[in-house]
Amino acid sequence: MPSIDVGMRQDMIERMEDNLIYAAIGADGFARLVSAFYRQVPADPILGPMYPAAGLAGAERRLREFLVFRFGGPPYYLEQRGHPRLQQRHLRFPITPAARDRWFELMQRALDEAQLPAEAAHRLREFFAQTSTFLINRSESEAGPAGQN
Ligand code: HEM
Repeated sequence: MPSIDVGMRQDMIERMEDNLIYAAIGADGFARLVSAFYRQVPADPILGPMYPAAGLAGAERRLREFLVFRFGGPPYYLEQRGHPRLQQRHLRFPITPAARDRWFELMQRALDEAQLPAEAAHRLREFFAQTSTFLINRSESEAGPAGQN
């Protein structure tokens, strides 16, 4: 078996095609990831107040179905919700740099907990880092107290 040096390995990890991730981790991988994320949300002082007090089941399903669709699985999200328009759908939530960092921190913990194959986890982490930065829509001074959106 040829040996692969670290640089080469990194290169291979970065080239995992987005639409193969669903095949690699399955519906179950996404379910484990998203449930590990939302388990942390209610107790979080920044994120907790932004989500519906009635419960997180709907939010959990929407994020899970979005990711399944985005990474090569069935398009349930599109069928239910239409075009994702994530930036527009997040405008009513005060996503400051601190909120973004917290969201990404909880998601990194969820990735660790879900124990997905390394290539898939690497690409998902990169996607979450970029997308969460893209969704920042307030400076810290514009945000007001947590939950006042
Ligand atoms: C950056 C920090 C973020 C915050 C504070 C945040 C917060 C929220 C909140 C409060 C909701 C409403 C929950 C619900 O659907 O009932 C929501 C919905 C959603 N978020 Fe985020 N989010 C963040 C980042 C992200 C990222 C990075 C993604 C994608 C990777 C994402 C994907 C979604 C999706 C798909 C929905 C459901 C949209 C819909 O169909 O209505 N969010 N988010």
